[in-house]
Amino acid sequence: MEKVKLKLLYSDIKPELDMIEKELEQAVDSESPLLNDASLHLLQAGGKRIRPVFVLLAGKFGNYNIDVMKRVAVPLELIHMASLVHDDVIDDSELRRGKPTVKAEWNNSVAMYTGDFILARALEYITEIEDPKLHQILSKTMIEVCRGEIIQIEDKYKLDQNLRDYLRRIKRKTALLISSSCELGALVSGADLKTAAHLRRFGYFIGMSFQIIDDILDFTSSDEELGKPAGSDFMQGNMTLPVLCARKDQAIYELLKNNLQKDMTDEERLTIVKTIRNSSAIEEAKKISEKYLEKALEELSYLPKSSASKTMRKIAFFIGKRKF
Ligand code: IPE
Ligand code: IPE
Ligand code: MG
Ligand code: MG
Repeated sequence: MEKVKLKLLYSDIKPELDMIEKELEQAVDSESPLLNDASLHLLQAGGKRIRPVFVLLAGKFGNYNIDVMKRVAVPLELIHMASLVHDDVIDDSELRRGKPTVKAEWNNSVAMYTGDFILARALEYITEIEDPKLHQILSKTMIEVCRGEIIQIEDKYKLDQNLRDYLRRIKRKTALLISSSCELGALVSGADLKTAAHLRRFGYFIGMSFQIIDDILDFTSSDEELGKPAGSDFMQGNMTLPVLCARKDQAIYELLKNNLQKDMTDEERLTIVKTIRNSSAIEEAKKISEKYLEKALEELSYLPKSSASKTMRKIAFFIGKRKF
C-alpha cells in the first residue's frame, strides 16, 4: 500500500524513472555471474529510489535533458546501493528490502567486493560528466558517508552520548548523500547557483528527517513492514534518537543499560521495542524530524512553483508518514 502511494508520487517522472531502472540493470552487468547475481539480487529487491528521484526533480529547475540527468541519477542510486551492501556487513544484518542481504545469501567477502564493484560502476558511469566540481562534490560526500559509518562504529553501545553526536552522525551517513543528489541534479542541468544551494539545503533537511524517521520506524513498525527485525538498531548497539530521548526516564535507562551488548532473546528484544514505542520518546523524536521537514519546505518556498517543486513537497510529506 505504502509502496503504491510512493509510486503515485513519482508518476510525473515515470517514463524517465523506467529508463533509469533499465540503466541500473545494465550498469551492474559484468562478465562475472557472481557479481551479476549479487548486484541484481539487491537491485531487484526494489527500494524507494529516492536519490535518483531527487536528482531528476532537481534537474527540472534547469535545462532538463534526460540523457545528461541519467549520468548523475544512476550513480547516486549505485553509490547508495554500494553503501547498503557494505552497511549490512558492518551491521551483520540478515535482511534488506525484505530479502536476504548479500552477506547472508553469499558471504562477507562477496559482499565486500560486490559493494566495491557497484561503487566502481557508479564512478565509471559518471565519467561522462566533465565538470570537476560535480566530481568534487560527489567524492567529498562519499568520504563523509564513510566517516559517518566509522563514527557510528566508534559510538556503538554509548548510551550516554550527546544528541549532537547523533545528529552529526546521521548528517554524514545519510543526509549528505540526499543533499548532494539534489545539488548535483540542479548543477548538471545548469540551474543557477542560488537555486542549487536551496536544493542542496532542501536535500540536507529532508535527509535528516528521513534518517530520524528511519530510526523511529525501527521501533514502531513490525518486522514484516520493515523487512528486518524491529529493534535491530539497538541490538546492533546503534543508539538512535528514540533511545536518546527515552533514556531520560530512569527506569527505561536501567532497562536499556542492562541489555546493552547482550545476546537478546526475541522476547527481550520485543520488550525493549515495546517500552520505547509506548514512551514519549517517539513523539519527541517525531517533533525533531518535523522541525527538519519544515526547514526543508522553507527552502522549497524560495524556489519558483512548478510541478517538480510540488512533487518534492509531496515526497517531503510522504517521508513524515512513511511506514517502510
Ligand atoms: C536506507 O535507505 C538507509 C538509510 C539511509 C536510512 P533507504 O530507506 O533509501 O533504502 P531503500 O533504497 O529504499 O532500500
Ligand atoms: C544506513 O545506515 C546505511 C548508510 C547510510 C550507509 P543504517 O544501518 O542506519 O540503515 P539500515 O537500517 O541498515 O537501512
Ligand atoms: Mg544497517
Ligand atoms: Mg548501519
